[in-house]
Amino acid sequence: MIVEVKDLRFKYDDGTEALRGIDFSMDRGETIAFFGANGSGKTTFALHLNGLLRGEGKIQVAGLAVNDGNLQKIRQKVGLVLQDSDNQLFMPTVLEDVAFGPLAAGVEVREGERRAKDALERTGMLHKSGKAPYHLSAGEKKRVAIAGILAGDPELLILDEPTTFLDPPGQRSLQTLLSALPQAKILITHDIPFAASLTNQAVFFHQGRIAAKGNLREIVERFDWQALTTS
Ligand SMILES: Nc1ncnc2c1ncn2[C@@H]1O[C@H](COP(=O)(O)OP(=O)(O)OP(=O)(O)O)[C@@H](O)[C@H]1O
Ligand SMILES: [Mg+2]
Repeated sequence: MIVEVKDLRFKYDDGTEALRGIDFSMDRGETIAFFGANGSGKTTFALHLNGLLRGEGKIQVAGLAVNDGNLQKIRQKVGLVLQDSDNQLFMPTVLEDVAFGPLAAGVEVREGERRAKDALERTGMLHKSGKAPYHLSAGEKKRVAIAGILAGDPELLILDEPTTFLDPPGQRSLQTLLSALPQAKILITHDIPFAASLTNQAVFFHQGRIAAKGNLREIVERFDWQALTTS
């Protein structure tokens, strides 16, 4: 099991009960899509899987309990591409940003740079290596954020709305890239065709709970999700 969560509850400081008892598990190598309305708790849940938020309940990821002592290890095992890239990119140049994960994990400088360049190549951003991340376009930022996760070679990849801002060729190459990666993946997305091209498993979030888990097509039909998102 790569993720095991039992009765996870979380309340934001303003009193919003964002997670109201989540039970969730997935196996190594599995890919699962997370669907659900805006505000249903998907991002809040994702932020718990690498310890950025800490609620009540039990969370185990890649064999480690999410607690203060394990945070650094957890962050190396869980690669999270945030919904908003501006919260993710912070180094002076694109290359340094993407190399940050490997270097923080203790990889030697030249090897860290090699991994960063390889990841940037795979997301089509190598030519922007020397640029300041905050001067990139929204889609370019997203590609650099994804490269940053790939460079760390995590055991679990969590992508929160990865196709937002990506142009159609960018979406297709992300799909090709992800489908070739053997790691477990959580795809949080309102883009059903994109999710369906990578997995047939989905969960549906509703008001801070997982309302259903199972076949992607059945979940899309049961919750009339396609109609809701395209209307
Ligand atoms: N920092 C915050 N402070 C207070 N409430 C928050 C905060 N962030 C999110 N919330 C609330 O928590 C609930 C869950 O939000 P979350 O961002 O997890 O939803 P989501 O399913 O990711 O939605 P979306 O599809 O729009 O990305 C919502 O009611 C939201 O208003
Ligand atoms: Mg979200």
